[in-house]
Amino acid sequence: MIFVTIEGVDGAGKSTQARQLVNRLEDAGRDVEFFREPGGTRLSERIRTILLDSDFAIDPLPELLLFSAARAQLVEECIRPALAAGKVVVCDRFYDSTTAYQGVGRGIADPDWISSLNARVTGGLRPDRTWLLSLPPEEALRRRAQRFLPLLPSESVPPEQALRTEPDRMEQSGQAFYDRVAQAFDDLAAAEPDRIVRLDGALSEDELADAIWRDTEDLLKKAGT
Ligand code: TYD
Repeated sequence: MIFVTIEGVDGAGKSTQARQLVNRLEDAGRDVEFFREPGGTRLSERIRTILLDSDFAIDPLPELLLFSAARAQLVEECIRPALAAGKVVVCDRFYDSTTAYQGVGRGIADPDWISSLNARVTGGLRPDRTWLLSLPPEEALRRRAQRFLPLLPSESVPPEQALRTEPDRMEQSGQAFYDRVAQAFDDLAAAEPDRIVRLDGALSEDELADAIWRDTEDLLKKAGT
């Protein structure tokens, strides 16, 4: 069946859009599986905890290998079986994040090497569609900062963010890092226009969800389902 991913810098609204897409697919009667990266299996969630824990100092190469290890397990244990069972698989981040964050952000610079590593890690699995939510760096920064403001009693946050009181290890990487990552995502979208669709992350939640849904319906039609 079809495999779709959502990418963008932290704060671009990916997780919200992934949830919206999963809801719409379920409402349309589709059998759907949702994963977030890093995560989705017991091992990958454990690796996620290490990667985001600011008590660990992790060098760029081990960081790359840990993200890759989490992904290899997720692909084998969950994504391939789900696709083989005819499900639609939605993933919040996939290997484009590794190219942008570790390859370019951390400066493990050889793009050919990263791209063959990614292919090896996923056994050549490529998303049928990737939506890149693109935001100007200042706006992404503003949205990230908002995650850590004290909540008013009437406010609620998505469950995955409910216990966050301070930036995680990745979010402590600094503005220059995020600028490189955002540029890398835009470059990836320009290099693979048949797969990666760049969307303006400043659009409203509903406008983005509608655009992603229209595209998904087309993909499902083309896949003959
Ligand atoms: P995520 O849970 O999507 O965080 P956020 O909701 O803040 O965007 O991703 C966790 C962090 O891991 C995020 O900072 C991006 C980073 N990351 C990488 O650096 N490389 C990767 O390959 C992946 C999948 C994520």
